Amino acid sequence: MSSNNIVSPQAPPRAAEKIVQYQQRIEKVLNNKLPDAATEPRLLHQAMRYSVLEGGKRIRPLLVYAAGECFQADKKILDAPAAAIELLHVYSLIHDDLPSMDDDDLRRGKATAHKAFDEATAILSGDALQTLAFDILSTPSLHQISLKNQLKIINILSQTAGSLGMVGGQVIDLSSTGKNLSEQQLENMHLHKTGALIRASVMMGATCSEQLTAQQQAALEKYATCIGLAFQVRDDILDIESDTATLGKQQGADIAANKATYPAILGMTAAKEKMLNLYESSYKALSCFGAEADLLRNIADFIVKRIQ
Ligand code: IPE
Ligand code: IPE
Ligand code: MG
Ligand code: MG
Ligand code: MG
Repeated sequence: MSSNNIVSPQAPPRAAEKIVQYQQRIEKVLNNKLPDAATEPRLLHQAMRYSVLEGGKRIRPLLVYAAGECFQADKKILDAPAAAIELLHVYSLIHDDLPSMDDDDLRRGKATAHKAFDEATAILSGDALQTLAFDILSTPSLHQISLKNQLKIINILSQTAGSLGMVGGQVIDLSSTGKNLSEQQLENMHLHKTGALIRASVMMGATCSEQLTAQQQAALEKYATCIGLAFQVRDDILDIESDTATLGKQQGADIAANKATYPAILGMTAAKEKMLNLYESSYKALSCFGAEADLLRNIADFIVKRIQ
């Protein structure tokens, strides 16, 4: 079971229960998909398991399941993209924490991978998690969806993870340190470094359905873009307003590293306003869906109210 409770106090009891069930489900799926710690190379497999298991809010897998729920998709089918996106995300966190990037010592309440192991093992465990994600998505026996949609899902993740997505966003982040970005540049950075994988989560979940219409696809893309951006704005706010124990990562790290963030560049009030506007837009985007999209709405609630 995940150590982080993402259920917002405002969530209706049934939604809260569902979120916990999905968290427990993805925990088991990840445990099964990761190579055993006793399998050679043992140190590498230990490092992969160390970074992935027991920790993290599992927001991205939750979004996969929630988007799948809009179309009554089979949970067993959703397990593969849910696991793949979390593995990809954890690889991005391991590399984000490296001395050559954010140089952080604490992640998910424990030592970062390069501190708990060594730098080479951390880098390689991130590399291996990334390829494991694509291994899972491309394994034919795991899927009962059309080959066309399976290929689409692989394409979504490869595009959003790469130089035009998350990795590109990380490059912008690193080259923006100490710079006074315009609001447009800041938004572009966040849409890439964090928004891309959040968008991938929603779109991979939806692509597990054979009935996705162009209108629904556009609505979900809009929802995902809004909450992806809101997620990073909240992350920037928490770096200032939360504390290290709650966050499970070093509070104040952005200020110490002179990072370009929403509160640093626009001020705290404008950052919060921006986040709430995005939250409202995410709800509006879902107006063509009924109660089947409630879990997506609950996740949007969590994203703006979360304290970790
Ligand atoms: C942290 O993501 C990195 C960002 C993109 C801001 P999360 O806040 O989802 O981290 P975990 O997975 O819960 O640890
Ligand atoms: C990380 O952004 C984004 C990715 C890992 C792609 P941050 O650097 O703000 O994330 P934290 O605050 O270290 O979790
Ligand atoms: Mg970073
Ligand atoms: Mg960081
Ligand atoms: Mg951050």
